[in-house]
Amino acid sequence: MIVAIDGPAGAGKSTVARRLAERLGFRYLDTGAMYRALTWLAMQRGVPLGEGEKLAVLARAEPVTFDKAGRVLIAGTDVTATIRETRIDRMVPVVARHHEVREVMRERQRELGQRGDVVIEGRDIGTVVAPNAEVKVYLLADRDERARRRSAERPGIGTDALATDLKVRDQSDAERMQPAADAEQIDTTHLQVEDVVDRIQEMVRAIRTQQMGTASGSQA
Ligand code: CDP
Repeated sequence: MIVAIDGPAGAGKSTVARRLAERLGFRYLDTGAMYRALTWLAMQRGVPLGEGEKLAVLARAEPVTFDKAGRVLIAGTDVTATIRETRIDRMVPVVARHHEVREVMRERQRELGQRGDVVIEGRDIGTVVAPNAEVKVYLLADRDERARRRSAERPGIGTDALATDLKVRDQSDAERMQPAADAEQIDTTHLQVEDVVDRIQEMVRAIRTQQMGTASGSQA
């Protein structure tokens, strides 16, 4: 089964998706980390972020991997912490905008998502990467609340600066990515992580029950 979790920055995707995967015993795939890692590598190697073809070649040559502990690796380097820096936050959409880059990334995401049960988080999972996902969720939250959450993850950066960054990134991402029409939208502004996870877990349970019913129905 594929559970697709999409939504803007700070809506709680990562925390919820990780926790859900843990509870269900599913694998977890963070597609944002893949775009982040590529952005880091391109900056490191001086590949111009405006050149989609060159970035796609780099993405193909240096695929992002995740180890068992959830660390993010690219070109032999552990970039788990570095890719969460503000300089990367700001540049990822510039890299992720190129269709050449997205093609390479989506192909790899489908490959990684193919084996068994998985929770995949991103922006375009329910629409493009896994349009057949059995469960699709789109997480939302007020921008102020999202900036507050982000400031807990980015100590040292003011909430105002983070709110501006979110606004710029929201605009750039929204030009290309919309919620799937059949995704369940959950506003997390006033919800606790565990409540959101409970709701999605309930959706998974309902789908499973339905699938079991269909399977036993076809045997009869
Ligand atoms: O947690 P947050 O939303 O800040 O970041 P993320 O999920 O790691 O995504 C970082 C950026 O990568 C987003 O702002 C998008 O520009 C891009 N992205 C994308 O284009 N498609 C995805 N499936 C995931 C991320």
